[in-house]
Amino acid sequence: MNFERNGEIKNNTSSQNLEALGKLQKHFHPITLQGKETQFEVQNNVWLAPLAGVTDLPFRLVCKNSPYSPGLVFSEMISAKGVHYKGNNSLALADSDDKEAPLSVQIFGSEPDIMAECAAIFRDRGVSLIDINMGCPMQKVTSNGEGSALLKNPLLIEKIVQSVSNACGLPVTVKIRRGYEIGNELCVEAALAAESGGAAAVAVHGRFRDEYYSGKSNTDAIKKVVNALKIPVIGNGDIVCAESALNMFEATGCSGIMIGRGALGKPWLFRELLTPAENPYTPSKEDIISTINAHTEYAVRLKGESHGITEMRKHLAWYTKGVKGAAAVRDRIFKARTFDEACSLINEIFK
Ligand SMILES: Cc1cc2nc3c(=O)[nH]c(=O)nc-3n(C[C@H](O)[C@H](O)[C@H](O)COP(=O)(O)O)c2cc1C
Repeated sequence: MNFERNGEIKNNTSSQNLEALGKLQKHFHPITLQGKETQFEVQNNVWLAPLAGVTDLPFRLVCKNSPYSPGLVFSEMISAKGVHYKGNNSLALADSDDKEAPLSVQIFGSEPDIMAECAAIFRDRGVSLIDINMGCPMQKVTSNGEGSALLKNPLLIEKIVQSVSNACGLPVTVKIRRGYEIGNELCVEAALAAESGGAAAVAVHGRFRDEYYSGKSNTDAIKKVVNALKIPVIGNGDIVCAESALNMFEATGCSGIMIGRGALGKPWLFRELLTPAENPYTPSKEDIISTINAHTEYAVRLKGESHGITEMRKHLAWYTKGVKGAAAVRDRIFKARTFDEACSLINEIFK
């Protein structure tokens, strides 16, 4: 499946982008997430979206590695049934580090009791926030009535959020899509159900499930959710630069934004957006090399050299996309096996 980001990435020095950066600042603020027993203040409202296979601990750490970093990061989606039946492998997806705090752990499933049990397990392991996936379009998930299939069942949405929220007491957020079948908009009803179940916030990706990642994230649909809900609504989809971030805020009135694919190979995007506009940040070549090296180091330290480098290959391809000379060494990127090989390729490409 092609899930490359769409939308043009603007360099910070373009005049349009500078203007957008200036206007963006007034939209940044902390967000308070209210749970049944605890509340949590997230320092800013620019968040890293959950991306299965991408936003693991090493990637989250590089995104957080700046004074201007996402206010909240999410684990990859974790199966509640996986936690219930198998335990450790699924739990490992929520392994965390103080440097990335706060982490929200995203769970998916369709059985309120199992999801509640799973959320309570994560609370007991020290997690402060739980997110529920109601947007995953993958057939193997939706065919079990999980992920975006839940959009068709608002009663079940309410029950799930209520059960999870009661069981863990933590703030529980929900991530939804515009709807399931193209043309049948379900997001307002789904979001209202989440709110009445006790959700602390709802993130909306403005695409239907059947669109997967094609077309555009629809800001009108997100705006309808913003207008219908009392709790914060987070706009998601196609944010890749200051202009698209500003457009999400202005077109929808959302309380915050969530960025996924825009951060692939560009974890410094958060720093670019959040740095005060009078002194805009654009990474130097040295910054880029040191970010990639830090990412590779985290991957190797946390996963071991063989697994870490295998996982890094796709990131290296994203980091070097469009960089002059990178195409010639692409094959070698996909064959890299060791930390030293990966680092010397990066130095060769960015020399
Ligand atoms: C590779 C990939 C993995 C994803 N994994 C998840 C996931 O685990 N949980 C989730 O809620 N959304 C997931 N999404 C959806 C994103 O969080 C986001 O909603 C979507 O990509 C649109 O935002 P963007 O244009 O900023 O990427 C995934 C998307 C991609 C491309």
